[in-house]
Amino acid sequence: MKPIALWMTGLLALSGLAHGLQLSDSEAAGKRLYREGLSALAVELSARVGASDMLVPAQAVPCANCHGADGRGRPEGGVRPPDITWRRLSTPYGQSVNGRQYPAYTEAAIARAVAEGRDPAGNRLDPAMPRFVLTLRDQANLTAYLKRLEDDSDPGLQARHLRLGTLLPRQGPQAELGNTVASVLNASIEQINQAGGIHGRSLELVSVDPGADKESARAALNTLINGEQVFALIAPLAPALDEEMAGLLEQAQVPLVGSLSLFGVSQNSRQIFEPLPGLREQVLALARYAAGALQLATTDTVIVHPADDTQSALADNLAERLRGQGWTRVREVAYSADSLQALQGAQAVFYLGQASEFATLAGQLERAGLNPYLFAASTQVASQVLQVPLAFSERLFLAFPFVPQDWTAAGRAALTELRQRSGLGGQHAVLQVGAYCSVLLLSEGLKRAGRDVSRQRLIDALESLHDFDTGLTPQLNFGPGKRLGLSGGHIVRVELPEQRFDSMGAFIEVP
Ligand code: HEC
Repeated sequence: MKPIALWMTGLLALSGLAHGLQLSDSEAAGKRLYREGLSALAVELSARVGASDMLVPAQAVPCANCHGADGRGRPEGGVRPPDITWRRLSTPYGQSVNGRQYPAYTEAAIARAVAEGRDPAGNRLDPAMPRFVLTLRDQANLTAYLKRLEDDSDPGLQARHLRLGTLLPRQGPQAELGNTVASVLNASIEQINQAGGIHGRSLELVSVDPGADKESARAALNTLINGEQVFALIAPLAPALDEEMAGLLEQAQVPLVGSLSLFGVSQNSRQIFEPLPGLREQVLALARYAAGALQLATTDTVIVHPADDTQSALADNLAERLRGQGWTRVREVAYSADSLQALQGAQAVFYLGQASEFATLAGQLERAGLNPYLFAASTQVASQVLQVPLAFSERLFLAFPFVPQDWTAAGRAALTELRQRSGLGGQHAVLQVGAYCSVLLLSEGLKRAGRDVSRQRLIDALESLHDFDTGLTPQLNFGPGKRLGLSGGHIVRVELPEQRFDSMGAFIEVP
């Protein structure tokens, strides 16, 4: 393994490692059963489900699926699995849950609920609760774990601290971007802590350099999750992990708040919440504008993209979406020295790729006497836009995740204060705003999840955020299966001689 530059924020002293609860062997085995449906013995456990008592492997219906990793219940589709922490079940006064009344649970009563689906009063539980066929040993392990469930909080969570992690390059060509995000995160977190933290916990940030390649980035993520035991990730910049990030986080059950797909591919994971729109959504917003205001949907249309797998796949995906939306003549061209030939006749060009190649391509088009409309995401090409030949003035349209017209007085003031605190100027504004919005979003989720926060509760809280005001973007909306707070883009027309950027109206949403 390569050595990794481990960099921790000098700002916040780290107060001891936040390792999870120590569990006995029996409790740990109970935890595996609770979370994964696995027996401590060499047997496969099963469960009867539904009114028809169909037998399925217990692995298909682990307790945590319905009652949550924290035991507090996750209502889904009209079914309400109750809180099954020992403290609640054993309340001496008896309870009334889902219309059933019963005295306190005992160990034997829990075993009966799990095996037969009856509560301590003998009431039948709703058949949505499976009946498990467990060995005595497994049942004992499970009960032992249920008693510890409440204290078995997620990693990174302590009475007075909550530990977050990020992956930011501190060396090499991406260092400037990494430093920018680090400054924003540090300044925002410092501000939250000075105001008393969240539910009495101050936030700690551990930053690790993802290094130059996939292998080093994987090792860095592993350091954060397993070594540093972070509770959640915030605004990482590790493009090398783009494709596997979602899978790795799901496996480790770690939530992430950050705009990963702003420059790349959409992540589509229940663990990942993105404040800003992805590259794909921005380009689709451009297409919507081009079809409506510019009537280009039936013209010769080309999606130009770099030859790498990721961007080719994105181009395929966009081409398919455009055709589905009534674009009749869409072609894809991989960018190369002789791609100019393939662009003959094109009236609309959607560009994916790097800023420098964009300016080069525009120059070649001009010299060849070609003058199509050009469409690109500001996050990819903004730095080179003013190098585009004047012939493309008013024919060049960019998508922006937000425009200054979105900024409220409060948002503007917050950004100004943040820049003063961190010593940042206006460079990499989208990255700055993205990181700032990530902190806002995460802290709102933590506030709503309450003092008893768990990773699961944080995910639930973020998922139910609607019309969330960042002050710097249109309002963010999440929901079940909806992990991009903003889906679409603002369309901006570039007037080159005047170097003016004109916003073409409201934010265009794409489903
Ligand atoms: C498919 C979803 C599902 C799974 C998986 C599941 N449960 Fe349940 N469980 C429920 C529902 C729904 C209820 C509520 C039934 C009712 O109120 O009638 C329930 C009720 C219970 C109760 C009774 C609580 C009370 O207040 O009376 C206990 C105890 C319980 N479950 C434990 C477990 C354990 C332990 C496991 C894993 C071995 C498990 N459940 C797996 C859905 C599930």
